[in-house]
Amino acid sequence: MYATLRSASRPINKADITVCLLFKDHKIQPEDKTLDHAYSSALSAAAKRPECKGDVGEVTAIHADASRRFVLLGLGDAAKFNAQKLRAAAGHLARTLHRMDAATVHVSLSAAATKSVAPAVFGRALGEGLGLGAFKFEGYKGGNAKRKALLISVSDKIANAALAEGLALAEAANFARQLQATPPNVATTNFIAAQARELARSLPGVSCTVLGGDALRRNKLVGLITVGRGSEFPPCLVQLTYTPRGKAKGTVLLVGKTVVYDTGGLSIKPRDGMRGMKYDKSGGMAVLGAMQAIARIKPNVRVIGLLPTAENSIARDAYRVDDIIKYPNGKTVEITNTDAEGRLVLADALFYGCKKFKPDAVIDLATLTGGVVVALGSNYAGYWCDDEKLRAKLERAAADSGEEIWRLPLNDDYKDMMKAKHADLWNSAPVRDAHPIQGAAFLSYFVDEKIPWAHIDIAGTADIHKDMAPFVPGPTGFGVRLLAALLEKW
Ligand code: BES
Ligand code: MN
Ligand code: ZN
Repeated sequence: MYATLRSASRPINKADITVCLLFKDHKIQPEDKTLDHAYSSALSAAAKRPECKGDVGEVTAIHADASRRFVLLGLGDAAKFNAQKLRAAAGHLARTLHRMDAATVHVSLSAAATKSVAPAVFGRALGEGLGLGAFKFEGYKGGNAKRKALLISVSDKIANAALAEGLALAEAANFARQLQATPPNVATTNFIAAQARELARSLPGVSCTVLGGDALRRNKLVGLITVGRGSEFPPCLVQLTYTPRGKAKGTVLLVGKTVVYDTGGLSIKPRDGMRGMKYDKSGGMAVLGAMQAIARIKPNVRVIGLLPTAENSIARDAYRVDDIIKYPNGKTVEITNTDAEGRLVLADALFYGCKKFKPDAVIDLATLTGGVVVALGSNYAGYWCDDEKLRAKLERAAADSGEEIWRLPLNDDYKDMMKAKHADLWNSAPVRDAHPIQGAAFLSYFVDEKIPWAHIDIAGTADIHKDMAPFVPGPTGFGVRLLAALLEKW
């Protein structure tokens, strides 16, 4: 697959492939008529063929003569066209371009397309779709595939400028995706901390510190210590800080669940339930990717990223069901299920982060419950947020990025479900009811009530099992572009 995708500063003359847009009407765009004439109606003839339907992502290659190749890119129904369809189409396009061995591509934009998707949005979504579509998890397969580069341009000036933004966002998401899929024997807690340090070193305005060992005890990060005890790799709290150049419009705290592997602990997962639990670090990887995107977008807001990082494994000192631990906010928690470990480590990061940074808003992302996968599948992440303003911002960022979220309820009845018999709280109620909400309810006890907070359960969206263009099955980097879009307009 392509190793790098870059945007050209101006339209590429004689690109390897010229892409013309096609809706479901068997007609080429008026903007492409001159080209069509120059190549003896090769474009319009192809568009008329019955198999050329113009479905979203349909790609028709045309070899006009020995040196000139075109692609008709299907965008679906003109009346239903939007940025998300473009991302999907561009994802297919990336794979086709790679197959056709293209090093340069020029996209011919049309008025019909920009009628519903403005040029700036078009350019960005095109860049995102191409970049995301070009992702391939690398490093663990034999053979040495040729790593190619693709140079891209769009006929419209504004769209062409926005292309670079989209490509940068996709690159940040792909960075997160590569880490998400990195296997647990490689992506240990120490490895994640090293990756975060290295990332911060490469990004202007971003710094990184890692709390481990004694620092965890001094800061009373009891959830992390407890969950991580059964692993040979010690738990840690990774902290990233982005400081804007000018005066900051406040501070936003991002918390990402980083359980590098979730066996379930002593409440061990059954065979089929454990597969894919390398993706239990996806919340943290989304925060890392978002940091990369933020460093490029440079919003005027301070951003703190916290990654509570631990492996939920089993050894003689693994934590037990029936253990009771005490958090520094005074709350005692009875462990009823060692597989509800995410909330235990998130509780630490939420309480520590609220106290230390006094943020204006907190957003956590976590692969927290299988229940949210059952409820929403992999199209929407579930989210909880009682603050109207933060909600509006998040919904807008979701619409802009195409990373969709759906709100679920959280009231006192649900919070009461988490009150235990022998301790203030238990980490999982003895009933299966409302599993995803139980997780959110538990976390609510560790967030300062005065601070607007959103919890996003990405268990269904972080990695997918079917082709969902621009994504192939595997990691999606869900959250990177959502958070970037949110902070860009903070
Ligand atoms: N990491 C899992 C959640 C998960 C499940 C993510 C499936 C992706 C796919 C989490 O730690 C977990 O085990 N949750 C339990 C919660 C229960 C024990 C309260 C669950 O969902 O069953
Ligand atoms: Mn678990
Ligand atoms: Zn987990």
